[in-house]
Amino acid sequence: MNTPISLPFSAKYNRTHAEAYWQKHRKGLPRKLSNWREQQLAGWALAQANQPERVLDLPCGAGRFWPTLLANDQRSLIAADNAAAMLDVAQQVHSPQTLARVQLLQTSAFAINLPDNHVDSIFCMRLLHHIESNDHRLALLKECRRVTRDSLIISLWVDGNIKAKRRERTEARRAVRGPGSNSNRFVARRNEIEGLFVAAGFTLHSYKDFLPGYAMWRVYVLRVAHQYEPLS
Ligand SMILES: C[S@@+](CC[C@H](N)C(=O)[O-])C[C@H]1O[C@@H](n2cnc3c(N)ncnc32)[C@H](O)[C@@H]1O
Repeated sequence: MNTPISLPFSAKYNRTHAEAYWQKHRKGLPRKLSNWREQQLAGWALAQANQPERVLDLPCGAGRFWPTLLANDQRSLIAADNAAAMLDVAQQVHSPQTLARVQLLQTSAFAINLPDNHVDSIFCMRLLHHIESNDHRLALLKECRRVTRDSLIISLWVDGNIKAKRRERTEARRAVRGPGSNSNRFVARRNEIEGLFVAAGFTLHSYKDFLPGYAMWRVYVLRVAHQYEPLS
């Protein structure tokens, strides 16, 4: 297991923020539509990963994806998050029937408290875009590789679309104005992040964009790369 890396954004998930985060995706038509699209992408990704049975939802937040993940009766789910407050809110907002099917775990994604190859797939939504450095991104990906036996489903912000170009211009204006930007969300260059996937021991199986050409969100389905072993 690796050493946990402490990210500034991780500290904000106290009780108030955790409750607000759960509500955020349920309020107003635009949010409901975007949540619907994310759930659709999640369903697609799970199918691409051959409907894994043993899944680690990390970070699970308040369990926004559990209805999609648990739609498959065969699936067993470990739901993990760094923030105790997020897990508390999850326990408060889901039914006892749902909670009975979920094993909760408080752990860092950089040092997952589970053995090697413990799950068939890790489902990692909305974490990687909070990580700026490639070293930290690689540390997270390698830790996921250690714990997943077969696949990693991971969402992030990528470049090469209208929103990313707009964001780049906004960031450039901020830089001219001087320090003070407190952004804790970052766009990954596609060629760089795809290189990190391979460096961590994955192959790129497939991906789908939230809104191709426009939005930054992309979901990748990665498979564990099995080393070629020459016959002796
Ligand atoms: C934007 S939320 C996403 C939650 C969920 N995947 C979703 O989409 O609803 C980010 C989550 O990452 C968790 N988090 C932050 N740092 C973490 C870390 N180092 N390891 C595991 N979880 C972390 C936060 O507590 C929070 O629940």
